[in-house]
Amino acid sequence: MEPLLVVEGLTKSFGGLKAVRAFNCRVNQRTVHALIGPNGAGKTTVFNLISGLLKPDAGRIRLEGRELTGLPAHMVSRAGIGRTFQTIRVFRDLTAEENVLVGLYAHSGVSVVRSALRPPVDRKLRREVEAALELVGLAPSAGTLARNLSYGEQKRLEMARALAWGPRVLLLDEPTAGMNPTEAAAIMQTIARIREAGRTVMLVEHNMRVVMDVSDWITVMDFGEVIAEGTPDRVTSDERVIKAYLGERKC
Ligand SMILES: Nc1ncnc2c1ncn2[C@@H]1O[C@H](COP(=O)(O)OP(=O)(O)O)[C@@H](O)[C@H]1O
Ligand SMILES: [Mg+2]
Repeated sequence: MEPLLVVEGLTKSFGGLKAVRAFNCRVNQRTVHALIGPNGAGKTTVFNLISGLLKPDAGRIRLEGRELTGLPAHMVSRAGIGRTFQTIRVFRDLTAEENVLVGLYAHSGVSVVRSALRPPVDRKLRREVEAALELVGLAPSAGTLARNLSYGEQKRLEMARALAWGPRVLLLDEPTAGMNPTEAAAIMQTIARIREAGRTVMLVEHNMRVVMDVSDWITVMDFGEVIAEGTPDRVTSDERVIKAYLGERKC
């Protein structure tokens, strides 16, 4: 069976800097695929290329056999790729439920101002919002303003918003950044649940406990290139990886 997401030869330069070169990966359905590597390795750039925020200089991106290369971000999103960002982007003065709802409307292309905040909200949409909040463990906080949620909860709210419309692949960029161990554990649990629900996740993450615990497959980057890939056990015993990433340099 063809992998869900296939990326081949992806390359991107910024001026003279080759941020990503000949990047390949194959993400299988119902797996968590981690992308790790030192700071500046090119991980976020890979996500920006896959999600259409940046155009590659070379290479191809296919989702379920469909060519996504060169499509603008909103088309990529509609084709089935959802994402969260390194920094939190929630509407602080909307409730958790409203945040997810706005995401759903934005995705379906309906004018947010015209429809999203005006009752009555469609029953089906309401159910989708509830299911997404449930999946990230925020169902009890549906009516809470985002500004009153903890940092970890806001991060999970972002995940719910990115999940609600049912993307085929969810890209999570450093979901545990800036978190204490308790919050990071909650994120870890959430990722495991998303996977159990049959979803597919691509994850950039520095916290190696999280990576080892939730990943089925790991791709390791250094200086824009893939230096290793495999199961967590295999990758963490790879000499090149230990040298580049796990051992000497701080990530
Ligand atoms: N928009 C940009 N313009 C110029 N340089 C960039 C841009 N985005 C990223 N870079 C550079 O590309 C390299 C890879 O960055 P990035 O993908 O953010 O790495 P990572 O997410 O692995 O830390 C870095 O050297 C970074 O400074
Ligand atoms: Mg990054």
